[in-house]
Amino acid sequence: MSSIPSSKGFDSTLSLLSNPYGFIAETCHALHTDLFETRILFQKTICMTGAAAAEVFYSEDGLVRAGSMPKRIQKTLLGEKGIQGLDGEAHRHRKQMFMSLMASERIEALENTTRDLLDRYARDWEAADEVVLYDQAREILTRIACDWSGVPLPEAEVETRTAQMTALFQDAGAVGWKHWGARLARHRAERWAAGIIERVRDGSLQTRQESAAHVVATWRDLNGELLTSKVAAVELLNVVRPIVAVSAFIAQAAHALHRHPEWRQKLKDDEGQFEPFVQEVRRFYPFFPAVAARVKRDFEWRGYRFPEGYRVLLDLYGTNTDARSWDAPQEFRPERFQDREDNPYDFIPQGGGDHHKNHRCPGEWIAISQMKAFCSFLVNAIDFEVPDQVLDLETGELPPMPKSRFIMRNVRRRQ
Ligand code: HEM
Repeated sequence: MSSIPSSKGFDSTLSLLSNPYGFIAETCHALHTDLFETRILFQKTICMTGAAAAEVFYSEDGLVRAGSMPKRIQKTLLGEKGIQGLDGEAHRHRKQMFMSLMASERIEALENTTRDLLDRYARDWEAADEVVLYDQAREILTRIACDWSGVPLPEAEVETRTAQMTALFQDAGAVGWKHWGARLARHRAERWAAGIIERVRDGSLQTRQESAAHVVATWRDLNGELLTSKVAAVELLNVVRPIVAVSAFIAQAAHALHRHPEWRQKLKDDEGQFEPFVQEVRRFYPFFPAVAARVKRDFEWRGYRFPEGYRVLLDLYGTNTDARSWDAPQEFRPERFQDREDNPYDFIPQGGGDHHKNHRCPGEWIAISQMKAFCSFLVNAIDFEVPDQVLDLETGELPPMPKSRFIMRNVRRRQ
């Protein structure tokens, strides 16, 4: 058995933090390998990139999620004791809860609400000097996420809840005061979500049977028990928060439309082009850099031993831009998705493998349908100008978005 190649230096935490989307792929490239060993946060870690690495990451029973996530991410982005840290039967059972929310008619209903709301918002946009698309998208998505999930959102709370949901995904990886702000947002958001769960359970809040609030509040784990209100709150936020996070993909999609104006016309002419366009946005623009697991028992892959206790990081962005799977990966070319066969391991912006069996994101269909709804609105329902602004992607942020958040001016609804 050969030993896994090692990166330079004792600990790579700073290299990863300073280059979150490039560190793993670039190091692999320099070492002519798909995997290497290092330390992250002083823990022995194997970093991997590419479709073959993704396949072993999602199919190897020796890899588990329990204990794989750094505490600072649990205290902000994910919460504790939610689905992300479950394994085996307990995971598969909890995953059914999320998958039961994703029927196509439910996703369509969510998309229709977005279209109606966009139309209402555009009336205000016409009267405004300028519109910051990312900020508006976050607010719209907070409203639709709550409405769809059966979570009451009084008008006076819209701003606060939008800010809280944003802090959870935008400031989770930050250091210093932003990180502490995200922890506070998590604390407050969980208290809010737990209150909703309790009100559904005691009957003081009536919600539709198919809503996330109702499904999570009445879900029974494998032992037949209801989830504790703390865990149920984490899971309810696992629906509301990421719907709001789709706003980042929307800002990125607007950026792509602006940088590739020929696609505005293509989308106008042919409805069927929206799907390849948004898929290319999900491939090309960085979002989550990597996912983590832990080696529960030793196993071997390609003659390398993965020792028990090691953390394993799978590079998502590097896999989506791996030249072995994608021609000219650094070029934005939606046409590549026009006749492409699905492969669960080479296109993994929201994780890979199987939605039911693995940890792959159950919200992919929502992300795609919301991106389509917003892009269709930008292309077919309004005219607007894009004034001078700083549109470079802010690479110090996770996810990187246009610095100016995409400003639009002179918005006019088409008749
Ligand atoms: C898991 C990304 C939207 C709910 C994940 C994972 C990623 C991801 C990378 C982890 C995959 C893994 O561990 O292997 C994204 C991105 C989104 C998005 C970039 C767009 C903004 C959504 C939406 C929902 C959602 C809209 C729900 C409505 C979840 C849940 C999990 C998850 C519950 C945990 C699944 C599990 O552990 O089995 N997502 N997601 N996500 N996502 Fe998403």
